[in-house]
Order: sequence, then C-alpha cells, then structure tokens
Amino acid sequence: MSNIEKNLNEADKLWGGRFTESTDAFVEAFTASITFDKRLYKHDIAGSKAHAKMLQKVGILTRQEVDDIDKGLDEIIEDIEAGNFEWSIHLEDIHMNIEARLTDKIGITGKKLHTGRSRNDQVATDIRLWLREQIDLISSEVKRLQTGLVELAEREAETILPGFTHLQVAQPITFGHHMMAWYEMLVRDFERLQDCRKRVNILPLGAAALAGTTYPIDRNYTAELLGFDRASNNSLDSVSDRDFAIEFISAASLIMMHLSRFSEELVLWTSAQFNFINLPDRFCTGSSIMPQKKNPDVPELVRGKTGRVYGNLISLLTIMKSQPLAYNKDNQEDKEPLFDTVDTLLGSLRAFADMMPHITTNKDSMRQAAMQGFSTATDLADYLVGKDMPFRDAHEVVGNAVAYGVETGKDLSEMSLKELQKFSAVIGEEVFEVLTLEGSVSARDHLGGTAPAQVLARVSEAKKRS
Ligand code: ARG
Repeated sequence: MSNIEKNLNEADKLWGGRFTESTDAFVEAFTASITFDKRLYKHDIAGSKAHAKMLQKVGILTRQEVDDIDKGLDEIIEDIEAGNFEWSIHLEDIHMNIEARLTDKIGITGKKLHTGRSRNDQVATDIRLWLREQIDLISSEVKRLQTGLVELAEREAETILPGFTHLQVAQPITFGHHMMAWYEMLVRDFERLQDCRKRVNILPLGAAALAGTTYPIDRNYTAELLGFDRASNNSLDSVSDRDFAIEFISAASLIMMHLSRFSEELVLWTSAQFNFINLPDRFCTGSSIMPQKKNPDVPELVRGKTGRVYGNLISLLTIMKSQPLAYNKDNQEDKEPLFDTVDTLLGSLRAFADMMPHITTNKDSMRQAAMQGFSTATDLADYLVGKDMPFRDAHEVVGNAVAYGVETGKDLSEMSLKELQKFSAVIGEEVFEVLTLEGSVSARDHLGGTAPAQVLARVSEAKKRS
C-alpha cells in the first residue's frame, strides 16, 4: 500500500461525508477507473485550469488562488511524467486523484477547484479534449498513407495487372489505378473524421452534475479557453451524451474495414500463386518450422484487428442502449473501448503508412496473369461494336472465341487472324491493337477510367489537394 493510501481513511474520500461504513475493498477496486483513465491526466488538468480561470473571471476565485491552482497542477504534470505520482485506487479515478494531490500541495485552495462543476461534466470534457487530439493524430496518419499511395500510383501508373470481379480475371487494369482506388476510400475516411470532430468539439463543462449550477459561470469563456467551437445547449444531454464517441468508433470501423480489404489483397498478392508484389522483409516474419516461409504478418494482423474495433463499436452502442438521463456509472465503461479503438487504429495506419513506400511490384507475374483468363474479351466485343455489330451479338461471337481459346489453350491475342475470322468475318488485322494489354487499358481514357493518363491526372489532383 502506498503512503498516500495508508494515510487515507473513509473521511478522506472526496465524497465520504454521508458514509458511515468503509467501501468494500472489492467494490472499491471494481468501481475504480484510475487504472485506465489516468491516461486522461493532461486533458483533465487542461480542463481544470480553464475552469479555474473562468471562476476567477466571474469573481468566484481570486487571482492568487488561480495562480496557486495553476502552479500545483503544473507540478502534478511534472510528477506524473517523471513517474513520481502515486495513483490510488482508493481515490477512484483520475479526477479525484489529481484533486486530492492538488489539495496536498496547495492546501485549502485545492478544494475550491471543484466549485460549480461535477465529475460528470468533467469526465465528458476530458474525453472530448482527448479524442479531439487523437482525431488530429489519426487524420495525419491517414494523410501519410494517402501520400504513400499516390507516390506508388505515380511510379506504377503504366504497370498492368489483371483486375478481378468475383476474384476471377476480369479486365486488365493499371496498378496505379488500383492504388488510387484505395486512396479514394481514405478520402472518405478523412472527411468522416473531420465531420465527427465538429461534434466532438463542443464543451460540456458547466452542466455540472446534470442540471447546471447556481454560480454565475461563463461557459463561452471556458469553451474559448479550451478551443471548443461552442458550449453545449442542454446540461442533461451534456453529461450523458456519448454519441460523439460512438460516431468516432463508427468512422474508425470503416477505416479498419478499408484496411482489412487492403490487407487481404496484400496477403493474396504476396503469395507464390499471385506473386504480384513484394513486402520488405522487415514487415514480415518467418516460420519456426518451415524455413522457406516469409509471412505477411502486418497485413494479416491489421485484418484481424478489425474485429476489435467492430467489437468496440458494439460495446459502446450497447453501453448507451436504454440508459435513462442523465449520467449513469455505465458511462465509465466508454473509455476502454475508445482507448483500444484509437490505439488499434493508429497502430494499423502507422504500419500501412510505413510499409507503402517500400512495396515493389513483379511486373512479369502481373502481366502473365493478365494474359490468362481472356482479360481483353470485352475489348474484342467493343471492337466488333465499332464494326457496327450489336453489342449482344458481339458478346456471343467473343464467347465462342473464348470457348475455342479454352479448348486450345490460347489467349485471344495468341490466335491468328484466320482463327479469329472463323468467329466473325468482320475482324481485320488491326484487331491485335485492341487485344494487347496496353491497348486495352489506354482505351479506358475517361474520368474514373484505368488508362495511365487518367491515373496521372488523379495523382496530380491528389498532390495539389494534400
Ligand atoms: N470515473 C467516472 C467516469 O469515468 C467519472 C464520473 C463519475 N461520476 C460519478 N458521479 N460517479 O465516468
């Protein structure tokens, strides 16, 4: 037991006044949140400083008192960061640990800090301050990953691989186009984070326990000091609302879903069967039994970690389900899913952003794969349409040619003109231009198409935007 805890008895509990019996030791540990909410110390202190300054502005605290509070809180940050702060389960949570220590340090003035506030509005403020900072960190990791994708797309604008639908070879595409598809997903993810930030950035402090306070507080001033866009409108809603956290985890779930899709493709593409790309050794691990193995652990783990974030979303939705107004202790359960979501998301984004610049492509394997599976069949049909054949008839003609190709083991581009003409007499020598992979991708030269020229246009727009 720490010294601080030895000296504490029930009367020292910050809410101990009406109690005649000590808290059961197990209940004390069961209800405490300090083991995880200590992570909010900086934000709790920032909120306290702003609150004290506001109390001075409206004449409740003196300048001297606020100076003492500020100094005490600064020392507490130093103590925490130097590892000299003894966290006490007895003091339940971050708010009471800090407040008790402040009173130890500066005496009676420390006890005035809680004037006109409650832990209910305090904790809501802390989480919003913390989450706002995390959203900014996550957003910059999303941007870093986008930069990696854009650079890869530019380098590989002309590299051809098969595009798939149903995981069957469909049509040739460019590698750059594929990278820019991932980029677009992240554009939406970034926008969602920014939109969610607007609803995070609202000040609940001043709601006090649930009904507001009798002191003449100036909430707009507190909001301004803490960089919030505004103060909230309803005290009951302010202490109980966790929509902003659920909204954030929803946005995080979508990002993880996208990362899991990238992961799946990286896992497939690095396999011997595809052999489209290489991941650097430092992002892979070996097998303890099979010496030949190089496993794509990072994408596999990111794919797996997606489940945690989805789980956190369901946790928080369920924590909030059916809760009556206003604050309920259930809300203390918001923190661990929220913290885990941020840690998982930041780690996954970081791994991807670090990996992106080092991905290399195996152009021959991709080309070979694109040559198999009749990926230019649609181009042949489009060619016939150009010769005035109705598309449905052209589809039929090409279907017959493909059946012949399957039988003889030949791709369309490997058939002679004579062979092709067996399926339609209108086919001429120039057909081979459209049957090449380059011809196929370059022909899709419109906004959103796979042509290298279009990829480079999207790349240059993306560079301007970042
Ligand atoms: N540790 C609590 C939480 O995380 C702080 C608020 C507690 N309020 C209360 N009235 N018990 O939600």
